[in-house]
Amino acid sequence: MIDTAELKQGLNCRRFGANILAFDSINSTNNHARILAENGAAEGTVVVAEEQTAGRGRLGRSWLANARENLTFSVILRPTDPPDQVNLLPLAIAVAVARGLREATSLPVYCKWPNDLLLQGKKLAGILMESALGPNGFEFVVVGIGINVNQNIFPEAFRSRATSLALHAGHPLDRITLFRTVLQSLEREYDSFTSAGLASVLPAWLELAPIIGKRISADLQGVTVHGTVSGISPNGGLQLHTDAGDLTLFAGDVTILDMEPYAPRN
Ligand code: BTN
Repeated sequence: MIDTAELKQGLNCRRFGANILAFDSINSTNNHARILAENGAAEGTVVVAEEQTAGRGRLGRSWLANARENLTFSVILRPTDPPDQVNLLPLAIAVAVARGLREATSLPVYCKWPNDLLLQGKKLAGILMESALGPNGFEFVVVGIGINVNQNIFPEAFRSRATSLALHAGHPLDRITLFRTVLQSLEREYDSFTSAGLASVLPAWLELAPIIGKRISADLQGVTVHGTVSGISPNGGLQLHTDAGDLTLFAGDVTILDMEPYAPRN
C-alpha cells in the first residue's frame, strides 16, 4: 500500500493531499472519491489504490494497470468557476500532470486532446473527470488519474499503443517521489489557472500539445472523420477543417496522423 506518511513528508502543498486515503485494492478510486465528495470531503482530498478491480477510463472503457507498479488515484475539486469555464478543466489537469511528470523525469511528456498524456507517441497516462452539478454550478469534480510508472509489459491488445515512464527512463522510478511532484504540480496549476481564469490554460496546453495544423482522424461513435486541426475553441473543443466543412469536437478519440514532434522520427 502507498505509505501516506512517507508521501506527506516533504509534500509542498496546502490543500492537495492534506487528506489522503490509501487502499490496497478498491473497485475504482473515482467511485470512492465521489462518495467522499457527496459527503462533504474537502477540496484536495486524495484517494489512491495499489489495485483497482473495476478501474474506469473515458468513453465507458476499462482502465487496466498492474497492481503496485503504477499510480492510480483521484482528487476531489470544488471549482467555483462558471460551468462553461469548467469545460477547460480537463486541459488544465492535463497540463498540470504533464508538467509534473516532466519535472520529475525530464522525459518529453506531451498532451493529446482531450486529456491523454503521451510519451514517444504512446499513451502514458489518462485522466477521467466526473462531476456533479448543483443549482449554483459545480458541486464537485472528481479527477481520476492513471499513470503508467513501472509497468514494463502491457496486454497484447495495448502493447503498440501504451507505454510507461520506466520503459523510457530505463529503470524503475520511485512512485512516492513522483506522486508528490504530480500532486504539487496539480495544486500549483489548478490554483493559477482558476485564479487567472481557466481560459489562460489554452496557451499552456498548446505548448504541450503541438496539434494545430495536424491532420487527424477522429472516431465519432463509429463514424470516422478526417480533418486538419485549426484550433481549440474557448470552451475546450477541438476545431477541425474537414472536406465537409468546419466542425468542433467535444468528445471522442483522435488519432494524429503525423506524430512529429510528439514522437520524433529517428
Ligand atoms: C482514460 O484515458 O480513458 C482515462 C483513464 C483514467 C484512469 C484513472 S485510474 C484512477 C481513476 N479511477 C478510475 O477508475 N479511473 C481513473
